[in-house]
Amino acid sequence: MRVPLRALALTAAAGAGAGAYACVVERNWFTLRRYEIPVLPAGAAPLRVLHLSDVHLTPGRHRLLSWIRSLHTLDPDLVVNTGDSIAHTQAVQPFLEALGPLLERPGIFVFGSNDLYSPIPKNPLGYLYETPDQARRRHIPDMPWAELGEGMTAAGWLDVNNQRGRVKAGELDIAVGGVHDSHIDKDRYEEIAGPADPTADLRLGVLHSPEPQVMDRFAGDGYDLLLAGHTHGGQVNLPGYGALVTNCGIDRRRARGLHRHPAQGDPDRSWLHVSGGLGTSPWAPFRFACRPEASVLTLIPRIG
Ligand SMILES: [Fe+2]
Repeated sequence: MRVPLRALALTAAAGAGAGAYACVVERNWFTLRRYEIPVLPAGAAPLRVLHLSDVHLTPGRHRLLSWIRSLHTLDPDLVVNTGDSIAHTQAVQPFLEALGPLLERPGIFVFGSNDLYSPIPKNPLGYLYETPDQARRRHIPDMPWAELGEGMTAAGWLDVNNQRGRVKAGELDIAVGGVHDSHIDKDRYEEIAGPADPTADLRLGVLHSPEPQVMDRFAGDGYDLLLAGHTHGGQVNLPGYGALVTNCGIDRRRARGLHRHPAQGDPDRSWLHVSGGLGTSPWAPFRFACRPEASVLTLIPRIG
């Protein structure tokens, strides 16, 4: 069967247009998502949490930097950064400067694999099929992750990479547990294992990659709310179908947004917010039907 030349030309033009849109327009079309989560004790005042993730910053991304710089006007009570903040050895200072006044607020962070290992040139479609084994093959960190961590801890943010801690935000006493990135086998849940403090106003679990087995442990220890990133919301979505991949064990339907963990079961199970993140690898510089995002999570008292 002969395919008319005109049909081929139209298909090629549509493909080129979608590619240009994904690389130039949507990748820089940042959006703020808002959710209310009924997770606080009765009578508690609402708490505004700004959840940032997967910025993958390179110093030349001026639109991204200026959008992050504007986020302090949201007046959050707490900032949570679930990792993959940098994608260039010179990105730490621009990242910290863009956070600016947000660093003066209570904050919590974990690292993602990209904070330790520099992005490597690869087929841009590798995002769709890279396996954890490929990511795990690298062993010697070549990124300034320590400088990044020192910048946030110097400002008073809590490092919960395989650690527990306590944060006061608003009027709330928050018990926090976190793990390093399980995507590269750096999570050590056993170091934080045990029931989360039932006397705290909120028990918050923080992790980069939303691996179900790790989240099972947080949920089993009584954490009320889990915050994760890593998935980029799939990065490429098909309208009507959603994310093609999550690059970890979580199912496609929970690739981003507000859900519960486990996905089904006890009505009191943990809340889960997966951030679709703000960036992409410099070697896969596109997003389609999956705008780069930050989220404001307004925590309110439990219903009933
Ligand atoms: Fe990422």
